[in-house]
Amino acid sequence: MTLGAGVRRARARRYLMCRPTYFDVRYAINPWMDPRQPVNTDRACAQWETLRALYRDLGHTVELIDPLPSLPDMVYAANGGLVVGGRALGVRFRHPERSGEQEPYLRRLARLASGGVYRPTLVNEGEGDFLPVGGMILAGTGFRSERAAHAEVARILCRPVHSLTLVDPRFYHLDTALCVFDDDLVAYLPAAFDDAGRGLIAALFPAAIRVSEADAVAFGLNAVSDGRHVVLAAAAEGFAAELRHRGFEPIGIEFDELRRGGGGIKCATLEIRS
Ligand code: ARG
Repeated sequence: MTLGAGVRRARARRYLMCRPTYFDVRYAINPWMDPRQPVNTDRACAQWETLRALYRDLGHTVELIDPLPSLPDMVYAANGGLVVGGRALGVRFRHPERSGEQEPYLRRLARLASGGVYRPTLVNEGEGDFLPVGGMILAGTGFRSERAAHAEVARILCRPVHSLTLVDPRFYHLDTALCVFDDDLVAYLPAAFDDAGRGLIAALFPAAIRVSEADAVAFGLNAVSDGRHVVLAAAAEGFAAELRHRGFEPIGIEFDELRRGGGGIKCATLEIRS
């Protein structure tokens, strides 16, 4: 039986992306990064162009921010901010290697968000760790964003925030361990969370999809959904089959070059919510 078939509706979205023109691995701030391994920037750009074209084919708007040569991680636009209800909250990175991205993203968001921009005072890595779902925001901590930043987000964006603690260094940002599809549905890797986090996710989303470790390692959870289509790493086949079963339309693409920096499809995508 297919659950939810025919009821999944796509909603046109507005995304911000940054071309990986200067993508490189020059430092290691997560377990996926190895500066000794060569990076194929042309391949990263080709995969990224495919994603951008796909979003446009699906009817979404893609805004761009100019990449800067001194910031090899700038392609991970999800870490550039968090935009909810037209209001944009900037970011504050844990690692100094990425702090140069804060102001360029904030300036770009100031022109895209109608409700103004705000600077966080605490470590906050944007949509990497803060995922809006329904009227609330799920917030990750443990590796990057600090727990106290969760309350700051709740205050500035006027939304209830639920804290989730990540425990596996491979899944250091919430968007590598949990994916939002809908107002009431998420998928996650249970082992990436502590007991309290697992319990909270199960209580908030009784129908949540649990993915295998293999699909999570393929960065399958680092996916983007418009409510009907789910753009995800082609290698996450088990997860794609489950999504089809739940009435979604999974679209698998090759996006593995950016995994050398520890990111995937969702990391390269920041949603501008009006
Ligand atoms: N190299 C980047 C970092 O470690 C990757 C960021 C991935 N972004 C994400 N939203 N998970 O900060």
